[in-house]
Amino acid sequence: MSTMSGFLGLFVGLMLVGLSASAEFDQLFQPSWAFDHFSYEGDQLKLKLDKFSGAGFGSKTKYMFGRVSIQLKLVEGDSAGTVTAFYMSSEGPNHNEFDFEFLGNTTGEPYSVQTNVYVNGVGNREQRLNLWFDPTKEFHSYSIFWNQRQVVFLVDDTPIRVHTNLEHKGIPYPKDQAMGVYSSIWNADDWATQGGRVKTDWSHAPFVATYRGFEINACECGGGSVASTAENASKCSSSEDRKYWWDEPTLSELSVHQSHQLKWVRAHHMVYDYCADTARFAATPAECVHHRHYHH
Ligand SMILES: *[C@@H]1O[C@H](CO)[C@@H](O)[C@H](O)[C@H]1NC(C)=O
Ligand SMILES: *[C@@H]1O[C@H](CO)[C@@H](O)[C@H](O)[C@H]1NC(C)=O
Repeated sequence: MSTMSGFLGLFVGLMLVGLSASAEFDQLFQPSWAFDHFSYEGDQLKLKLDKFSGAGFGSKTKYMFGRVSIQLKLVEGDSAGTVTAFYMSSEGPNHNEFDFEFLGNTTGEPYSVQTNVYVNGVGNREQRLNLWFDPTKEFHSYSIFWNQRQVVFLVDDTPIRVHTNLEHKGIPYPKDQAMGVYSSIWNADDWATQGGRVKTDWSHAPFVATYRGFEINACECGGGSVASTAENASKCSSSEDRKYWWDEPTLSELSVHQSHQLKWVRAHHMVYDYCADTARFAATPAECVHHRHYHH
């Protein structure tokens, strides 16, 4: 990014975000645990992990389809052992979930981004990449786009992962459970950094993740009276007289430009893909066989 566009980006960001992170945050989210590990500074929200506690927040309502974004500046310096997560999830044993997990590292070593998709309670779909920038220096946006055709994970509008609807091949796709939007920071030094070999160094605490730019542009279906899954799904589906923007035909798959971006990410930045992990899975997971983005 040139200095000029960086400057303009920052400027536009501030214009959109306004001055109070707490007002913007309060509209959409609420702290879920460790309220005393939250602090607001100008347009920013900070979540702190120390040896007593991490912290987390969740959306006030649930959603189906649309796009959720946050801007995040990850833990600076030594972040080994820490995980900061941003995800959408439904509830119950057959829940669906779309995860971004940012795995800390020792000073100077790259942060990793792990994504995962749970369908009907089953995950095991991890992918990992090392970002093409230092995510601790500036804010970057992380988004999840979700419609009936695909789930797309984006970093600064660059797609890093697509989970395609392959129901026509008999593969279940998450599209009938409303999801909340969540974020948290916690200690996961049993697995997060270099396979759990590097532990959290508490002499470097507190570990702080900084947020701003909370955006949810999605179909609300939380709160109010209890409705069935089917009713929720139909309320959030486009019909003759109600068209949702995320059901636009152009959003049913990546654009040509986005496909090229995804290929670039996979070729240059991906460090792990469950689809290629033949040691772990005796049979290639069903969606990997059909997922055209996974063919090189
Ligand atoms: C459906 O929406 C209602 C609110 O309209 C919500 O309380 C309920 O949890 C939703 N059901 C599912 C299965 O997502
Ligand atoms: C941490 O740094 C090491 C060494 O560069 C790298 O192999 C690893 O992928 C990085 N990320 C994590 C989460 O360990």
